[in-house]
Amino acid sequence: MKASSSANCRFPSARKPSNRRDMATRVAVDPDYTGLTRVEDGLPSFWYHDPAHHERELRAIWYRDWVYVGRARSLDGPLAFRTVTIGDQNIILLRDETGSLRAFHNTCRHRGSVLCTRTEGRFEQKVIICPYHRWTYDLRGALVRTSSKTAGEGFHQSEYALYGVAVAEWRGFVFVNLAGREAVPFHGTFARTPERFDLWPLEDMVLGHSYRAELGCNWKVFWENFSECLHCPGVHPDLCRLVPIYGRGFMGAHDDPDWSSHAGDDDPRYQGGLARGAETWSRDARPIAPGSPGSSRGRYKPSSSACRRSTWSGMSTTCGRYGSFPWARSARNWSPTGTSPPPP
Ligand code: FES
Ligand SMILES: [Fe+2]
Repeated sequence: MKASSSANCRFPSARKPSNRRDMATRVAVDPDYTGLTRVEDGLPSFWYHDPAHHERELRAIWYRDWVYVGRARSLDGPLAFRTVTIGDQNIILLRDETGSLRAFHNTCRHRGSVLCTRTEGRFEQKVIICPYHRWTYDLRGALVRTSSKTAGEGFHQSEYALYGVAVAEWRGFVFVNLAGREAVPFHGTFARTPERFDLWPLEDMVLGHSYRAELGCNWKVFWENFSECLHCPGVHPDLCRLVPIYGRGFMGAHDDPDWSSHAGDDDPRYQGGLARGAETWSRDARPIAPGSPGSSRGRYKPSSSACRRSTWSGMSTTCGRYGSFPWARSARNWSPTGTSPPPP
């Protein structure tokens, strides 16, 4: 750790130390350090188990933000559909007769019946027919036929379209937003610039393997685990050999409060990325598909059995980043240039 008198250092807390303990927790950190610099309160425990709070989170986050629901290729041509669930909301994702992606609540406007009872398939006609009383909607959500013998006074068919869900496609990935017309613009979704993915031909990727897990924990527990690597040295020794900076408990170079003292050192232990000589995130660090690397057909192995086997606080955990993942056509590793340094 650098001396605290360095002009480049800042102290983590504006709070004056009030006792010996506070003095001990004050640390000097380099500029652009990305970690915590003071003690922050944790979330209240009931946020993890209270159904009423979970409902608030659904409305404030999951029903308001863009949520990834799958690859565009999983909807193969006009009239294909899938249903997806977010919270307690079921959604039909479909391609209309022109091939455009559309999404609606999977709920009939008549008596609220579920419209599509299958999780995926292809409509036989260019309409969605409710299985209950056979109200019929076109693939843009408009109500085109009812089963009523008379239209009651004041009934206007045009007012009973399916409830729309906003849908966006980005480089082959499909996102929906349950706020519909009120949805925030999709282009503000990425916390980091999407250009950082330019090295990968994301549109061309095909699903090679999928792994599904149901986690016996509140969703925030999983995300908190995913967002830190303090657990990596203890839980993922294989992974730490492959990505040495994880072995230091860091995700990136600036997670180290003393990062600038290693700024000129290109060792992956300090700068992140794969270990020298490694080519993929597979357990042996080698590509497994013919022609890879240098081919879009290369794939990761589903890796890190240690991750899948690990238990934490009595819950089986998985790390979402360790699924199969197609390899870029020209990349050889996860460095900004996608090229491997020579083996040691
Ligand atoms: S509930 Fe759908 S037609 Fe009646
Ligand atoms: Fe993990």
